[in-house]
Amino acid sequence: MAAEVASPATVRVCPLEELKRDLFKVISAEGRVILVLFHEGEVFSLDNRCPHMGFPLSQGTVREGILTCHWHHARFDLAGGCTLDPFADDVPAFATDVRDGVVFVDPHPISGDKRGHALCKLNEGLEHGLNLVLAKSVISLNELDASSEGLRQAAFFGLKNRAAGWSTGLSILTAMANVLPALTAEDRRLALFHGVVHVARSTANQSPDFDLEPLATRETRPERYVDWFRRFVDSRSEDAAERTLRTAIRIGLSQQVIATMLFAACTDHLYMDVGHTLDFTNKAFELLDHIGWEHAEAVLPSLVPHLVSAQRMEESSSWRHPVDLPDLLHKVHGELDGLLSEGGGRRRGWHGHAQLAQTILDGEPAKIIEALTESLRSGVALTDLSAAVAYAAALRPVHFHVSNEFGDWDTVHHTFTYTNAVDQALRRAPSSLLARGIFDGAMSVYLERFLNMPRQPLPSPSGQVTAGQLLAQFDVQGRVDETAQVVASLLAQGEHEVVVQTLGHALLREDAGFHQFQIFEAGVRQYRRFAGTPPGDHVLLGVARFLAAHSPTVRATGQTFDIAARLHRGEALYANQQGGAN
Ligand code: FES
Repeated sequence: MAAEVASPATVRVCPLEELKRDLFKVISAEGRVILVLFHEGEVFSLDNRCPHMGFPLSQGTVREGILTCHWHHARFDLAGGCTLDPFADDVPAFATDVRDGVVFVDPHPISGDKRGHALCKLNEGLEHGLNLVLAKSVISLNELDASSEGLRQAAFFGLKNRAAGWSTGLSILTAMANVLPALTAEDRRLALFHGVVHVARSTANQSPDFDLEPLATRETRPERYVDWFRRFVDSRSEDAAERTLRTAIRIGLSQQVIATMLFAACTDHLYMDVGHTLDFTNKAFELLDHIGWEHAEAVLPSLVPHLVSAQRMEESSSWRHPVDLPDLLHKVHGELDGLLSEGGGRRRGWHGHAQLAQTILDGEPAKIIEALTESLRSGVALTDLSAAVAYAAALRPVHFHVSNEFGDWDTVHHTFTYTNAVDQALRRAPSSLLARGIFDGAMSVYLERFLNMPRQPLPSPSGQVTAGQLLAQFDVQGRVDETAQVVASLLAQGEHEVVVQTLGHALLREDAGFHQFQIFEAGVRQYRRFAGTPPGDHVLLGVARFLAAHSPTVRATGQTFDIAARLHRGEALYANQQGGAN
């Protein structure tokens, strides 16, 4: 029925007697469709769209104060709109009034604490793995300019509800927070949604985490804590390492000392857990960049379970035969302090990244180590060397031939994300201990040389192309080289930011796995480092090829987000608003 506006905030519905007779009315006012019901002697008003997926509640059933939607059977309290089924969310309720035998409704929902409600729903979504609820929460928090609160809450949830410690979900959440500026406004919400979905998955069926207490001690020397922590990680003493770390944070040792302590433990052994250990540690510091160093004691101890249990590559035969890489590496590790004091990192404006990367890609281990040590001796900065190694690692997926086994994409991916993590960590907390990671990374690039045989050549630009053509490549399985071809053409057109945003969108519309999120974020980081040079273009080509190899997927996550976004915009997912509650 048509609504008649009786006052700025009050809409006339119908005479009370008419409502008693018909039991419900559906009216439209101020862009909303409102269901007004008479039940057990009272008048109630609710938004007529089921908050779950928009089915008209006027087609539901009312019994004993509960309205049941007929679509997925979510139930709502008539008196307040709260759902009894968390998957559905609460339905907005409206104030009603009966004056002179006529029913009026205020078309503005009874609003409580919107921010608190969205955060509460975020928690429920995380607890129960409800993706649609998570999507709605992320969208609401974005609209309320409270995305950073959502990020912090999701991170705390992921930390407290997983005794096994830091998770891939937390890495994805942090990686997506890192790349937000590179994405379109629409994709930023979707990126955070992926992050919280993966946090929920990482905590599903996990034991909660219980903290150990810091030591009650007068010991305050930073070097003592660094030594203790490294010793306890080395001997795989999880509780001792956790208490040491908690104490170091609690007594207020600097961020630099804590970072040195953790990154040293990550590089005391070679390429731990195919690089994940250092990558997770770097991500934990990046998470603290987003939520504040004051949360260090909540975040960093989550790294300990992984640190003490990680595989150490000196235990792996591929690192021992035919060349004993640990022998070579341990020797150079022992020389690093001397090399650094000799070179002093004094060379500014060094541009030898591409040349050094070629040596790492094609050289033998002793030659690679010599090239790196000579660079250090001549004053090349640690972060220039780490960038050169990351660039070498980025070239492996560029030249990866699709005749390799599919699983080998992960091999080249691991090295690239590890070398990127070393590069990021060195910018945060440079040290000769962490510099060992540069050499480990270079050896991992060396070990993967067979994955560039045959070597896929760089694609050449071929005519004018659009972002739409790039996106279309990801609709067909296996278009790895075709995708690189389109990227090369877009880059030749100077559309670098279009490439970054389109790759971001191509990632976010898929049901992407951990490695796709990782490689995109690492790629954006290294692209920014080399932007405006051929290495920058090469990084993007490698990311594009990796993402194309893993697309398309079912795209269910994006579909859920799209439903939530349409509901939030007030779109009618179901056109038929007729029929009746009974
Ligand atoms: S329960 Fe109402 S639309 Fe799903």
